[in-house]
Amino acid sequence: MSGDHSEVPIVIALEHFSRKKPLRFHVPGHGGGRAIYSELRKANLPGWDVTELDGLDDLHSPSGVIELAQKKAAGLYGARHTFFLVNGTTVGVQALIAATCSGPGSAIALPRNAHRSVLGGLVLSGARPVFIEPQIVPWFEFAAGFTGTALEQVLQSEPRIVAVLAVHPCYYGVVGNLAEIVKICRSYNIPLLADEAHGTHLRFSPHLPPDALEQGADATVQSVHKTGGALTQASWLHLAPGGRVDRGEVASALRLLQSSSPSYLLMASLDAARRQLALYGRARLDETRDIALEAALKIKTIPGLTVLGPEHLNLPGAVDYDPTRLVVSFRGLGLSGYEAGRLLADEYNIYVEMADAYNIVAVLPLGVNREDVEALVHALAGISSKVRGTVITGDRPPPARPGLPAQIMTPRRAWLARKRQVRLEASAGLVSAEVVAVQPPGIAIIYPGEEITPAIIEYLLIARECGLQIHGAADPMLATIEVVDC
Ligand SMILES: Cc1ncc(COP(=O)(O)O)c(C=O)c1O
Repeated sequence: MSGDHSEVPIVIALEHFSRKKPLRFHVPGHGGGRAIYSELRKANLPGWDVTELDGLDDLHSPSGVIELAQKKAAGLYGARHTFFLVNGTTVGVQALIAATCSGPGSAIALPRNAHRSVLGGLVLSGARPVFIEPQIVPWFEFAAGFTGTALEQVLQSEPRIVAVLAVHPCYYGVVGNLAEIVKICRSYNIPLLADEAHGTHLRFSPHLPPDALEQGADATVQSVHKTGGALTQASWLHLAPGGRVDRGEVASALRLLQSSSPSYLLMASLDAARRQLALYGRARLDETRDIALEAALKIKTIPGLTVLGPEHLNLPGAVDYDPTRLVVSFRGLGLSGYEAGRLLADEYNIYVEMADAYNIVAVLPLGVNREDVEALVHALAGISSKVRGTVITGDRPPPARPGLPAQIMTPRRAWLARKRQVRLEASAGLVSAEVVAVQPPGIAIIYPGEEITPAIIEYLLIARECGLQIHGAADPMLATIEVVDC
């Protein structure tokens, strides 16, 4: 045995974090327990951490309390069936792709900024991805939705597309015209699958964009832990009444992918979140939205900062937004979102959900305090006045992205192939075995099975030099890239 085993580094780090009493503007959306059902907050969690004992049902074949809880969630969303998930929306997206796209030669249309969980679905199903370019919101430079015209183009050019996946809303809370996407999918008789990781809460306030089921998606997956008040990893998957996704296929994909020991704490938190949303969702969301809009008005007056609002959304792929998350750009200060996020944490004890090269995203938890949001606004004003006149990094426009490369093989074949690492500069003409995405705008530049072109190498070198965040590569410095050894 080596090492000191009396140490518990994760436990210590969590104790330290919660002892600091940070202001939380990040997921999970229960805000450190504030919005959790009181019975769950008071519960003896180790005592509730059980397995499939008598009377407690079985997630993989529910016929008792889990079935009842799932039915209640389905009733709340008007779904034909709801599956509880214990591995986040990740597993739900993978199960939907596996359930709809496993036929030989099947293809799926999906946006290039789809979450990395889709790769698991593509590897599992063997489906060929047909990518659609999302629209980029200017100034903030993040990827939002795709247009109906872009979808029509891929559907006309590829008759083997058997499903379409849309992200609704994106990480920054922006939605495209989903009703139009639904209409197009219906005209081709193809199911529309929604990755609604950030949209559990939308239907509970008429002041928020409508959710995917309301607009006619065939199936949707929601991270209830992100914005619905459940514990981290707890999500659910809804099938629409009359939708074109087979319940049995989804159930068998979930049996394949989910743990055989699903956590009762996570499932109880889904049950409790459903109760909270049903009983208090409207009041809490209206209040959260009012507080967020007030904050946005104040942030607008802070020199150098831009807060996302309706005036930035005049693209067909970006038609509306969720005001309960504040997206703030620091470009006017010449400060990066990463630096701003660090200053908020280090100097103000405020933690936001996400930072990129230009922006921060602050997710207001359900039941947020007005004073906490005022503290955030105050901190942003403090950063602005401290930084103004001192920053010399200046604003760098994002490098121009290269076009989509040729697809040489499916992601599944690339994943299963023998692989090797090569220097990025020496990879032209080789087939990538990994996803490399650059933030902003959060779009995959190369996908497994695609040919690495000189333009892609040049873009990645510039992105590396500019300090843009690079995701997905096995080598985080991107000195090397993993390729198929053919
Ligand atoms: C758009 C999107 N889809 C899917 C996921 C995966 O969700 P989960 O963390 O619930 O597995 C995320 C996570 O951030 C996401 O942003």
